[in-house]
Amino acid sequence: MLSLGVRELAAAMRVVAKGDLGRYYSRGTSETDKFEQGLRATLDVRHALAVNSGTSALICALVGAGIGPGDEVLVPAYTWVSTAAAPLAVGAVPVLVEIDESLTMDPIDLERKITPHTKAIIPVHMINLVCDMDAIMKVAVKHDLVVIEDACQAMGLKYRGRRAGSIGHSGVFSFNQHKNIKSGEGGAIVTNDDRTFARAAMYHDVGHYERKDQFVSDEPIFVGMNFRMPELSAAILRPQLKRLDRQLARRRERRRFLIDELAASGRTGYAISPHHDPAEAAGLALLFDDPQEAKAFGDIKGARRLIDTGRHVYTNWQSILAKRPVHPLLDPYAWAHRPIDYPADACPATLDILARSCTVELAPELPTPAFRVATRSMRA
Ligand SMILES: Cc1ncc(COP(=O)(O)O)c(C=O)c1O
Repeated sequence: MLSLGVRELAAAMRVVAKGDLGRYYSRGTSETDKFEQGLRATLDVRHALAVNSGTSALICALVGAGIGPGDEVLVPAYTWVSTAAAPLAVGAVPVLVEIDESLTMDPIDLERKITPHTKAIIPVHMINLVCDMDAIMKVAVKHDLVVIEDACQAMGLKYRGRRAGSIGHSGVFSFNQHKNIKSGEGGAIVTNDDRTFARAAMYHDVGHYERKDQFVSDEPIFVGMNFRMPELSAAILRPQLKRLDRQLARRRERRRFLIDELAASGRTGYAISPHHDPAEAAGLALLFDDPQEAKAFGDIKGARRLIDTGRHVYTNWQSILAKRPVHPLLDPYAWAHRPIDYPADACPATLDILARSCTVELAPELPTPAFRVATRSMRA
């Protein structure tokens, strides 16, 4: 089954035929409005704002929460570089937190990294595996911190009955080419907080955002950027959103199948990476005893060793490690209350876990990973 098909084609043609390519030019309800409606219903949240990338969604969420110069934002050392870059875009600094064997933020190290200047936590639900949100929210409440869930890699996943991204103060999603639903580029922020939404909405539209029928805000207008989602993107995302739960069910089915196949293969020296809501797991990672075994497994088609996934690993975030701002006078590190550094060994537990871990591809549209050993066939 291909993830994009005739419904997306028809949706794109509808937009082109109508000729309204931006939401504000739409005669009638725009595709972007309808996509946001779908997001609100699917994720059971009060507000949803479609934007043009996951990175812009992160920036909007930080702006929404009022994070800025002098603030420290806790981010995991294993995530796409955008999670760490976004705080810098609003003048704050990222502080690295170890992951644990679930491949998500370690709540124990999280609490260790809190200082009087910490304002926000960005837990990241990596590769369709969810964070330990109960533990993270407990730390956040105890220290009065904002939680922005980065659910870019986990659209639709559930954690104890709630959708990833709907548990913290806000949640962000990416719809780039590699995500559960995709439009090439695209993103969204969701929240139940009116002020966060009003600020994010204003920022994403050069500070002139007005949608008075949908929210009331006395927030004064401030300067923003253009992070608006094009109508074509919203149109092709809508049918995918409708299919999302079915697609996730197929990923879970494929996960169970591959776990059985691995067990049947007689391979030893690995464990399935623990999951914080096992029944909902739609990602699969293996944790090997020995990094060399992980390396060999990662060479198999359909598998990848996590330490080899480029800018998902903090040691490959060159611009951040070098603390190189966009302009010498726009330097968030100069505004920080204490020196923040990122030595190569800042997060040794993360490096050890990533060197021993491999992810296994579960996307239904891709061929079954080549380590399959049994003769049973599998539904695509
Ligand atoms: C965890 C995570 N956060 C943020 C992003 C940024 O999303 P985008 O590429 O849409 O800007 C990504 C994208 O790969 C991601 O995987």
